[in-house]
Amino acid sequence: MPMDVQELFTLIDEEEGGQGSLIAALAAIQERWRYLPPEALLLASARFGVPLSQVYGVATFYNAFSLKPKGRHCLNVCMGTACHVRGSPRVLDRMETKLGVQAGETTRDRQFTLETVNCLGACALGPIVVSDGEYSGQMTPQKVDVLLKHIRRAEEG
Ligand code: FES
Repeated sequence: MPMDVQELFTLIDEEEGGQGSLIAALAAIQERWRYLPPEALLLASARFGVPLSQVYGVATFYNAFSLKPKGRHCLNVCMGTACHVRGSPRVLDRMETKLGVQAGETTRDRQFTLETVNCLGACALGPIVVSDGEYSGQMTPQKVDVLLKHIRRAEEG
């Protein structure tokens, strides 16, 4: 991963000291690289004068942060009870087959990260899949095919 350290410092320098700024800096790093590289956490620790263990504590506390590289597109399959009963295991199964990864993994080409979540609060529309923040309800394995095709086509187009 090409890490532009100066660019990283600039991102972090835009925020001033304190815990809130550390979170903002981590958010900027996450947005730029789609995860928090260990080098970036070290730099953040030095920049904010916060022990590395505390930086890791913040990085692992919030779901928005990831210590593993994420794909360009994030797919979340709801595995809450209502979605489960309505067929989310089959939806997840299709995603895993189509992408060639298990839940929690990222495709080799770093295009997709597949994850599961527990109840997104839209149970009546289950099974729910969230792709890059967009909700799709009443998902079926067939609709998974269409969704992935749509994302790939948009990527090419
Ligand atoms: S269980 Fe899936 S939205 Fe509630």
